[in-house]
Amino acid sequence: MTTDPDARSTLSAQSTSSVEQATVEAVSQLEAATDLEAVAALEHKFLSRRGWFAEAKSRIGALDPADRAAVGRSLNDARSQLEAAVKAARARLSASLSEDLYAAERLDLTERLPLKVPLSRGRIHPVTAARYRLEDVFVGMGYSVEEGPEVESAWYNFEALNIPDWHPARGSFDTIFVNLGEPEEVMLRSHTSPVQIRTMENRKPPIYMVAPGRTFRTDTADATHLPAFNQIEGLAIDRNITLGDLAGTINTFVGELFGRDVKTRLRPSYFPFTEPSAEFDISRPDGSWLELGGCGMVHPNVLRSCGIDPEIWQGFAFGFGIDRLAVMRHEIDDIREFVNNDVRFLSQF
Ligand code: DAH
Repeated sequence: MTTDPDARSTLSAQSTSSVEQATVEAVSQLEAATDLEAVAALEHKFLSRRGWFAEAKSRIGALDPADRAAVGRSLNDARSQLEAAVKAARARLSASLSEDLYAAERLDLTERLPLKVPLSRGRIHPVTAARYRLEDVFVGMGYSVEEGPEVESAWYNFEALNIPDWHPARGSFDTIFVNLGEPEEVMLRSHTSPVQIRTMENRKPPIYMVAPGRTFRTDTADATHLPAFNQIEGLAIDRNITLGDLAGTINTFVGELFGRDVKTRLRPSYFPFTEPSAEFDISRPDGSWLELGGCGMVHPNVLRSCGIDPEIWQGFAFGFGIDRLAVMRHEIDDIREFVNNDVRFLSQF
C-alpha cells in the first residue's frame, strides 16, 4: 500500500507531470480504502473546499502564464478522476457492506431439526367433527349456517317461541339464569331455538338455515347428560311448506349422515313453538328405533312475533343434540368422555 504522499507539496510543484503523479497516488489510496469512513476522509482531503484540489487550483495564478492552461487542464482531469475513484470506492464498499449484512442475517428456513420425540398432532374433537359434518350436509341442501349468543333474554329463549312466562313448558327447560336485570330475564340459552327468532327478525323469507351451538341446562352430568351440550337447530320458511317437506328433509339429512338404509319416522309430540309437533327417530340395524330430536311446523304465533305473515309463509323447524349424535355415531358409553380431555380417549377419533 502507498504511504500518504505529501500531495500538497507534490502539487505545489505545479507542473502537469506532478499533478498526474499526485493523482495516480490519490486514486490508488481510494482503491485501497477498506471502509466507507476512509473514503469520506480521502474525499475530504482531496476534493473539499480546502482540499488538495482547491489548494492547487488557487495557485494557478502564481504560475508562468505559458503553463497555466496546461496545468489547469490536468487539474480538471485530476478532479474527474478523483471523483470517479471516490464513486467507485463507495460502490464497491457499500455492495460488500450489504453482502456482509445479508450473510450475517441469513435465515436458513430449509433446515428441519430432527425431533427427539415424534411430533404428535392434535385432531378435531368428535363433537366438533359431527358439527362440521352436519353443517356440510345442510349447506349442501342450500341452508345457511347461523349463530346466536349463548347468553339470551327471555324474549328470544321463550317469549317469541310462544312460551309466555306462565307457560308450564318453561319449567321443562331447566334453565340456568344469569343474575342480571329482572329475575329470570337473562339466561344461558337452554336450546338453539332462539336463533330461529334472531334469523327471522333479520332476514326476509324464504329462509333456510341451521344454527349449531352450545346450550345449557341445570342437568347434573351423567352418562347421558351434560349441563353444557350442543344442539343444531333447523328452520325453513317458504310458501306452501308442508309436513311432507319436513319428513323428506329429515329423511334426506339422516341418509346423508348415516347411510341410505337408515329409516326415519315421526312420532306426535308437543312443543310450544310448533304445531303440529313431532319427535323424530332413526332406525337401528336391529330394527329398533332411536330418538334423535324434535320438530314440527312453525307455530303461527312464532311467525307473528318475528313480523312474518303466517297467511303467506309457512315453515318447519327441528332441533337435536349434536353430542348425542356423536355418541351414537361412535357408540360411546358415557357422554362425559367428551369433556374429560383424556387424550387417550380423544386420540381414537
Ligand atoms: N328446542 C327443543 C329442545 O331443546 C328442540 C326442538 C323441538 C327444536 C322442535 C325445534 C323444534 O326447532 O321444532 O328440546
